[in-house]
Amino acid sequence: MKIFDLEKSNLNDLAINLKECAFKGNPLVIKNALRSLDLKRFGQFLKGRMKYSNDDRQFNLENYLERKKWFTVIYDKDKSSVYTHSKTRQPLHNDNAWLSDPAEMVFLAFEKQAIEGGETTIYRLDNILTDLQKEEKQLLNDLQTIQVLIKKDISGKYFNHTTIINGENSIYWNYYRTEKSNNRTKIMCDKFFEFLESKENTNSIEIFKCKTSDILCINDTKLLHGRLAFSAKNRGDRILHQSMWYLNN
Ligand SMILES: [Fe+2]
Repeated sequence: MKIFDLEKSNLNDLAINLKECAFKGNPLVIKNALRSLDLKRFGQFLKGRMKYSNDDRQFNLENYLERKKWFTVIYDKDKSSVYTHSKTRQPLHNDNAWLSDPAEMVFLAFEKQAIEGGETTIYRLDNILTDLQKEEKQLLNDLQTIQVLIKKDISGKYFNHTTIINGENSIYWNYYRTEKSNNRTKIMCDKFFEFLESKENTNSIEIFKCKTSDILCINDTKLLHGRLAFSAKNRGDRILHQSMWYLNN
């Protein structure tokens, strides 16, 4: 995890740090970003300076495609059966696992962080590979060779037919969205889910708390992320905006 304070620096330095984040798979937190940038200007920076292009495919609560540059993740007790609106812990996952041509970069802008809890958890692919190699060689082999189908889109147009780990380059993991129609796939997914759960309180996983006005930047294909539970009473006690961008290189 690298911290970059935008109030003490400039957009040129941010560009250098963002390139490193994309390339190395090390997450970047832009501290205080929303104090000097709004979401529109940040989008202009990604497009103009970084030459990224936006992937506006977002799926709504009914799993239908909606075109949106920024997708809001807001606590709402009336819709708390889904992670987008709940305050419960969210297990490790990729955001774009269900797309065969996913945008690499994911940005999470914290309009409002919860007062208590809501920390982000990160498990980098290089650490996952090292741990599996040491402790679960067969599982690693299965994750790199067994094809699975990951799907959210209800129309059937968008899905990802893939291995969960692609060599040593990328990972596509969403336990709940992976079809487990045969026993081999089900056993592998359950085992990997348990493996990830067992790592949460170890040094393999970074836990940190973004504050209001921060923007978290990740290369979604090179790490898994999740969040810890948080305290909230009213709608909007925690508000994030998420956007996805292609690197174009
Ligand atoms: Fe996520």
